[in-house]
Amino acid sequence: MPEKGKVLVQVKDVCKNFGVTIALSHVDFVVKTGEIRGLIGENGSGKSTVSSIIAGMQPASSGEMAYKGKPWKPKDVLEAQAAGIGMIVQEAGTIANISVAENIFLGSYQKFRKGPIIDKKAMVTEARKALEKIGVTHINPALPARMYDMQERKLIEIAKCMYNNPELLIVDETTTALSQSGRDIIYRIMHEMADAGKAVMIISHDLNEMMEQCDTLTVLRDGVIIDNIDKADFDPDDIKQKMVGREIKGNYYRVDNDGYSDEVVLKADCITTMHSLLCFDLELHKQEILGIGGLSDCGMHTVGRALYGLEMVVDGEVRISDRNVVVKNAQVAFRNGMGYVSKNRDTESLELNASIYNNIASTGYDKNSTGPFINPFKERAYVDKQVRALMIKCQNAHQPVRALSGGNKQKVVFGKWCADDADILILDCPTRGVDIGVKAAMYQLIYDMKKQGKSIIMISEELPELMGMCDRLLIMRDGQISGEFFRKDGYDDRTLIEYMI
Ligand SMILES: Nc1ncnc2c1ncn2[C@@H]1O[C@H](COP(=O)(O)OP(=O)(O)OP(=O)(O)O)[C@@H](O)[C@H]1O
Ligand SMILES: [Mg+2]
Repeated sequence: MPEKGKVLVQVKDVCKNFGVTIALSHVDFVVKTGEIRGLIGENGSGKSTVSSIIAGMQPASSGEMAYKGKPWKPKDVLEAQAAGIGMIVQEAGTIANISVAENIFLGSYQKFRKGPIIDKKAMVTEARKALEKIGVTHINPALPARMYDMQERKLIEIAKCMYNNPELLIVDETTTALSQSGRDIIYRIMHEMADAGKAVMIISHDLNEMMEQCDTLTVLRDGVIIDNIDKADFDPDDIKQKMVGREIKGNYYRVDNDGYSDEVVLKADCITTMHSLLCFDLELHKQEILGIGGLSDCGMHTVGRALYGLEMVVDGEVRISDRNVVVKNAQVAFRNGMGYVSKNRDTESLELNASIYNNIASTGYDKNSTGPFINPFKERAYVDKQVRALMIKCQNAHQPVRALSGGNKQKVVFGKWCADDADILILDCPTRGVDIGVKAAMYQLIYDMKKQGKSIIMISEELPELMGMCDRLLIMRDGQISGEFFRKDGYDDRTLIEYMI
């Protein structure tokens, strides 16, 4: 029997500062063998920071760690990997233009070296085994990683991590990028590891998921450990309160049943794309919040991209009705009052090296200019409003977006499009990775936009938020609409799920 309940990792009095930002303050906790430990807390509370310190990505400012009873001070990720600590990071962790196999063996090419050359064939064969080991057979390791979407690329990262047989696996906010089948792979791996006397740390903002999967939850707030809670004592309201430091109660979705106008503002007429969609129709009305739901690969993300001109439409057209403009590309969409929040924020929605200020201001150049000159006062007000409304956790708006926590990056994307007076907004998984307090703020902003006469498409993998927010709900399956439902009739989640699968 594998030994369980032994201390595998100990974090002792660890602090981490970034300039004046205190990311971690005197953090103590242990991870034991046989355990699945969840880290939970608001955006910017320090979850990724403490995990990445354990995994050798950055050093602590002070404090100590122990691993398997010995002092632990990894100098880099490779040392941590070699010692049996693997981490699946929150941000995209694969490189687009090298092959899947090269991604999997990045940093360990040596073992395929034959004299002066690398034996690529052997590497591909081994990569295939690595993927099969986690139950993935549909990814071709010889192809460049860019051929695969976000979910598949996460699976590649998981395969890479598991190839090294880690004893501690850290999974940072990965599940929200995965569909149910991808999540099932991760959950299976986690439980197999715990059963085998290894250990797992997982980070997620999905409280239900955390309560289901974890044995223990460590709650962080502003870089401080607030509590460690065992499964027997899990209580959602108590956990939420510990996370935010105040009581969060009840319903944060809209409660009204106000309808929308008959006027169509955006129309997709029999659009066909290279992948996913075949003669797809859709009408969005003025003042409507139209939801699109389904399983991750049902085509709903492609719909969002095609509507905004990011996906090539090979037949049919997308038209902004009142302006009588055909959306041929994203530039046309933007110039004609459309906004788009991408699911894939790091590559499609943000300039990571630019400041928060410049990212948000980028949607408002026209509005904040007088003639050819940008009015700095107007622009500052434009940015400040969003930073405040969304509680973006930063030193000031001139920090680079790169320095923000994952959820705070998501707030910048959302903020930059809400700031703009776009008439039509397409939101693809807008609340991915944000904590419950900010989710509530985002729902309120979406609702306010409806009240102002804007029209919104909300694409989401979370049924509760679709049911909570949308006037009308389209469920998709295999690139087609399998069902249409209306708020006024009431939504029933069981029926909706039936239409998804
Ligand atoms: N490289 C960096 N430079 C400056 N500040 C940083 C850097 N990395 C993290 N921080 C700051 O440290 C704090 C903790 O960030 P961290 O990424 O650990 O949060 P998190 O709990 O993972 O949040 P999220 O749920 O949004 O992912 C935040 O205030 C963040 O802005
Ligand atoms: Mg994080």
